[in-house]
Amino acid sequence: MDVDAGRFLADLQALRGFGAQGRGVVRPAYSDADMAARDWLAGRMAEAGLRVRFDAMGNLFGLAEGPSLLLGSHTDSQPEGGWLDGALGVIAALEVARCVPGVSVVSFQDEEGRFGVTTGSNVWSGGLSLAEADGLVDHDGVTLADARRVIGDRAGGDVDAEQFTGFVEVHIEQGPKLDAEGLQIGVVTDIVGIRDMVVTFAGQQNHAGTTPMHLRRDAFQALSAFNAALNDRLRNVVTPRTVWTIGHVSLSPNASSIVPGRARFSVQWRDADVDRLARMEAIMRDTAAEIAAAHGVGCDFGPMLGLDPVAMNGTLRAALEDAAEAVAPGCWCAMPSGALHDATNVARKMPGAMLFVPSIGGISHDFAEDTAEADLVAGLQVLARAAAALSPS
Ligand code: GLV
Ligand code: MN
Ligand code: MN
Repeated sequence: MDVDAGRFLADLQALRGFGAQGRGVVRPAYSDADMAARDWLAGRMAEAGLRVRFDAMGNLFGLAEGPSLLLGSHTDSQPEGGWLDGALGVIAALEVARCVPGVSVVSFQDEEGRFGVTTGSNVWSGGLSLAEADGLVDHDGVTLADARRVIGDRAGGDVDAEQFTGFVEVHIEQGPKLDAEGLQIGVVTDIVGIRDMVVTFAGQQNHAGTTPMHLRRDAFQALSAFNAALNDRLRNVVTPRTVWTIGHVSLSPNASSIVPGRARFSVQWRDADVDRLARMEAIMRDTAAEIAAAHGVGCDFGPMLGLDPVAMNGTLRAALEDAAEAVAPGCWCAMPSGALHDATNVARKMPGAMLFVPSIGGISHDFAEDTAEADLVAGLQVLARAAAALSPS
């Protein structure tokens, strides 16, 4: 089970070439760069002796014969993504599958939520039907049904989850803890829950020079007031680990001399407690409705997407902890994940677990995202050791 660190790092750099931009990547789900990367990966899987299978969503599997342990993550990226987010888990899985018998590999599709929230693994694990997923729309108005046409004749039918005995995903931390504390490995205890929806305020588009302030129905003013009111009203409900983000805003018609008629924006919030997520949803909806009424604009809520928090499997976690202590003695910790991962969905179907390596400066979802080579290799070695202990072969 001697993994080849040089081959692993070379594969990671090769994958980085697809959609490369500066130090990062632009490889959103179903883009040309994403599909080219998947085709390259399929070739590497076949060379490793794995049976290659795309499903209808474009999730890509490299399958070992018989029952196997599933390892992997995703190879799609954020609109401005780092080179390691997801890629690390897939390429580490590939290297381990070359060396440990009974290991299969997966790259899930649209983990980064061009359309939904971890869409590919959500559909694969039965959390969302393919028909429901097909109706999801990205920020440019493209449906998933249209986007996934690029899969074409690659699609080879469903991949049965019954053949897998468990799932392990290695990932960069994407936060500051490991780097700040000088630790090399994090073994994940649980993954946070998330809620995500699009809200639209619709006012009256009008002339920015002639429309008196008191007669305006300005959709941006409503959005601005909503954000301030929300921050205020959430204060008594949240914990230091709770987060919320307005990350995408589209103003219409987005011109200097026009009172904005429409503001369409995403609101996303995350917490480890489902009841708190629900209380936050009520506050979001009530606040948006009140602010809309006060500004004379309409308010529309899009579909509510989300995933509940999940705990990692104890047996798999213990194998990762043993491997972490062997590879990085005294230099690892157990920790929760504030980022979302495919492991949340896969845990519906089988025992699941995760491990983290540090993100330099805690930066991720940014071209600057990076991890020291020694830490990448330590993550690979922990994964390989744990896989050798857990593989059914
Ligand atoms: C996944 O990238 C997330 O948003 O946590
Ligand atoms: Mn990721
Ligand atoms: Mn990500």
